Amino acid sequence: MDKKRILIVYYSQTGQLRQMVENFAAPLLAADDIEVEMLPIKPKTEFAFPWRFLSFFNTFPETVHFQPCEIEPIQTQHNQYDLIILAYTVWFLSPSQPITAFLQDETAQKLLNNTPVATIIGCRNMWLMASLEVKKMLSKVNAHLIGNMVKIDACSSAASFITTPLWLLTGKKQAFGLPAAGILDTDIADCRRFGEKTRTAILSGSLNETLWHNMGAVKVNENLIASEKIARRSFYLWGKLLISSGKISPVLRKFILLFYIVFLILMILTVVPISAVIKMLIKPLTRQKIAAQKKYFAAPSGE
Ligand SMILES: Cc1cc2nc3c(=O)[nH]c(=O)nc-3n(C[C@H](O)[C@H](O)[C@H](O)COP(=O)(O)O)c2cc1C
Repeated sequence: MDKKRILIVYYSQTGQLRQMVENFAAPLLAADDIEVEMLPIKPKTEFAFPWRFLSFFNTFPETVHFQPCEIEPIQTQHNQYDLIILAYTVWFLSPSQPITAFLQDETAQKLLNNTPVATIIGCRNMWLMASLEVKKMLSKVNAHLIGNMVKIDACSSAASFITTPLWLLTGKKQAFGLPAAGILDTDIADCRRFGEKTRTAILSGSLNETLWHNMGAVKVNENLIASEKIARRSFYLWGKLLISSGKISPVLRKFILLFYIVFLILMILTVVPISAVIKMLIKPLTRQKIAAQKKYFAAPSGE
């Protein structure tokens, strides 16, 4: 019997997502009948970590408009795989730039064409809009999405609003006595369970949308649906303005960016709690709509 081939594509800046991928891949690597190939995406110019304050925010316009960084050429051992795992992080409610670059790459698109794909997301906690965009990109290149699993930072939304940016801007996970930023070690280790299920499915020839069903692959936070939609719209419009202004003058772009950062922080501090209160008040009226939205975002693996 020919070995089953799995390609695991990922981009991880600090190594957190790479650890998730390694835990996921361990049971597959141990199987004699499966050949696993790792494909870390490499930007031509690495994004510096920790991020500098302005570079961090200055990355959002191109990220949300899918104008990514250049990446090193995609080279794989084979032209076809039985399964491609696409592991990505979220940048400004969009897939990270290196992953968008991969999805736009001609060689990658040939690999993805007519191939089952399962995605793994590791991020702070806002992944809904990014997952929609990745679903669209995958469908455009005729890939068949059969699974999605997500791990998020353990601490509350409010705490990680402070700790995650601090981690990204200083490199330190712990600050001000708050819980540490990042995904819990136990959640990272839990990725192994999904690797085990994938091993069983691929060896029994049953790779389909039930792959990660009933495994708690994702948890859709209904309180973030509206906030993500509003924030995505804001990033999109301001991103467009910033890209255009940068063509006129880099100083103008910087000036507008500084203004937007203040606006963004004020928006998060006001819109997010206000929309949460409004949502709570109208919950009885929107219950059905929210249940449908949750199902939509949770697909294909479900909660
Ligand atoms: C530029 C940038 C923007 C980010 N934006 C988001 C976001 O919109 N939503 C989210 O949940 N996490 C966001 N994160 C956190 C990442 O998704 C991820 O958890 C973190 O960068 C660690 O990933 P790593 O494995 O690449 O180091 C962002 C990170 C960076 C660097």
